[in-house]
Amino acid sequence: MTPHRIIIDTDPGIDDAMAILLAMADPRIELMGLTTIFGNVSTARATRNALWLTELAHHPCPVAAGARHPLMRPPQPHPDFVHGVEGFGAEPAPAPAAAPDPRGAARFLCETVAAHPGEITIIAVGPLTNLAEALALDPAIARGVKGVIVMGGALRVPGNVTPHAEANIWHDPEAAAAVFSATWPMTLVGLDVTEAVTGTAADFAAIARAAPRAGGFLDRAVQFYFAFHQQAHDLEGCHMHDPTAVIALTDPALFRMHETAVEVRTEGAEIGRTVEGGRGPRLRACIGVDSDAVMQVYVATLSNGRLP
Ligand code: RIB
Ligand code: CA
Repeated sequence: MTPHRIIIDTDPGIDDAMAILLAMADPRIELMGLTTIFGNVSTARATRNALWLTELAHHPCPVAAGARHPLMRPPQPHPDFVHGVEGFGAEPAPAPAAAPDPRGAARFLCETVAAHPGEITIIAVGPLTNLAEALALDPAIARGVKGVIVMGGALRVPGNVTPHAEANIWHDPEAAAAVFSATWPMTLVGLDVTEAVTGTAADFAAIARAAPRAGGFLDRAVQFYFAFHQQAHDLEGCHMHDPTAVIALTDPALFRMHETAVEVRTEGAEIGRTVEGGRGPRLRACIGVDSDAVMQVYVATLSNGRLP
């Protein structure tokens, strides 16, 4: 079977690291590159962290640094209380040996998609500024991609930053509005499903046994993320936001999807809210998930011997 050729746009971030290591471990995926964005941490830290993850997993791939601030508004504060100041909880984030791709995220996205027409799926697991900038740089990207999967939004559940807004949308609502109104084949993986998928201490301990270097790092980093979920959600475990978006590509049968247009609120008390309906292009919104099956895929893939 031809592997899924993907670029992950990411703000690593602990659950981002979970998603990136999943993509590196899954033989069904060819990771063509990482593009970085602010959100969980600054873009500079996200770039450092993404480069370091490629070295942690012995899985070289291009990393292109993205926008340093939202399209039109001042940056929001980074959630140090969720991912730690450096982005990996209490785990240090070593300086990587490799340097980022000199083209930057928007050019890297446009040029890679143009070089592989109809083959690349962009999986966005951070704020959507880079994707909006790529659409502005070369609108043909909307026709050239195979698909776009966005971890973001909250259609029928409350937000996680405000009662209305999910973090990746909230950080740059104007960018999200541009991405949701583009005519590319898009799938939305929002809190409606990602908050239903829980990773536990036993899951990450099993991954650490199977992959002592990469899994051991993840098991140490996730402890900080567990503590946040215990305090904020009274949850024994953690929400698997970003890995769930990757599994929506490799295992779509585990999701219930609903075709709808989605509008993004860009002002007022509900800024960053994603609302079903409107006159925009229709996308596939995930509204249900087989959570246990998603976690089985996650643990089995990270334990398959392909990670160090
Ligand atoms: O709301 C969850 C999303 O915001 C995840 O992608 C998490 O990593 C943060 O970026
Ligand atoms: Ca993220």
